[in-house]
Amino acid sequence: MKPDLSVKLGKLELKVPTLMGSGCYGSGEEFEAFVDLSQIGGVVLKSVTRAPRLGNPTPRLVSTPAGMLNAIGLQNPGIDWYLEHDVAKFASRPCAVIGSVAGFSVDDYAYTTERLAKRPEIHAIEINISCPNVAAEGETFACDPKLTQRVVRAARETTDKTLIVKLSPNVTDIAAIAREAQAAGADALAVINTVRGMAIDVDRWAPRLGNVTGGLSGPAIRPIAVLAVYEVARAVTIPIVGQGGIETTTDALEFFLAGASAISIGTANFTDPRVPLRIVEGLREYLVRRGVGTLAEIVGKANVGFANAYQYEGDEG
Ligand SMILES: Cc1cc2nc3c(=O)[nH]c(=O)nc-3n(C[C@H](O)[C@H](O)[C@H](O)COP(=O)(O)O)c2cc1C
Repeated sequence: MKPDLSVKLGKLELKVPTLMGSGCYGSGEEFEAFVDLSQIGGVVLKSVTRAPRLGNPTPRLVSTPAGMLNAIGLQNPGIDWYLEHDVAKFASRPCAVIGSVAGFSVDDYAYTTERLAKRPEIHAIEINISCPNVAAEGETFACDPKLTQRVVRAARETTDKTLIVKLSPNVTDIAAIAREAQAAGADALAVINTVRGMAIDVDRWAPRLGNVTGGLSGPAIRPIAVLAVYEVARAVTIPIVGQGGIETTTDALEFFLAGASAISIGTANFTDPRVPLRIVEGLREYLVRRGVGTLAEIVGKANVGFANAYQYEGDEG
């Protein structure tokens, strides 16, 4: 018998637990020639903001060991143009379509979420709270528990659709932020967005990204992401969409065993668009081999607490 890979994120039901990460898959159009989109769980669209954005100065992508840095700067046409020209196309996708909202004030998020969520083509909304907040002078919403709570609550009031809150790893205590997001009404959490980083050109004596700093993604961040999922899973009861450097079935399994109910794949698609299909197949094989009927049964199975419980002294040295 085929194992059951289905998962529920709030009201959103996915046949298989693989989403495509925001900013890395468009709406799936570019990938349709290579991948049967009915075989993936869903696509998280590029984040959209209230006003159009040109994005950051180039170069905006830099390859790094085991990953890449990006500083796209949320380039997008703004919600008005997006609703008029783009959103109708998403109705033809044979998988879930999850809109992604970014903003610079609480009001921005509420406004954009409400308008996007009204469209039937959009099955759920992810709110990307990892971008700078103008009112708090550039701090990101996801770095402050109170701001997280305010922004999630405001978005929550605008829609009954599944709300996934995407957390930033660039914080001291991601579990505290996760708790606030759940308390404010999030249905699920996406863990994690990119990790801040930079690269320097030693010939030009200059930063390699036009924006100086960027977000690191790919396998380089996987251990950071697995730990974040592990910590968040201990703090909340809502489902987690784990992400950060997933390329293989084994990578994906790390996230499920840490406590994720679904996964998202971003950077790996740039080098091999079939990664998501291989992971779904690999998960089926794994569950059959282990005699497990549903993926849900292994979620969090390696989440055993922390070393201090066994009287160890800490992580380092
Ligand atoms: C080029 C690029 C653009 C991205 N744009 C967005 C975005 O608009 N909104 C968002 O929430 N995350 C964005 N991300 C983050 C990814 O969705 C994902 O969370 C992150 O890259 C970690 O997963 P990965 O290592 O599988 O790529 C972007 C990532 C990349 C590489």
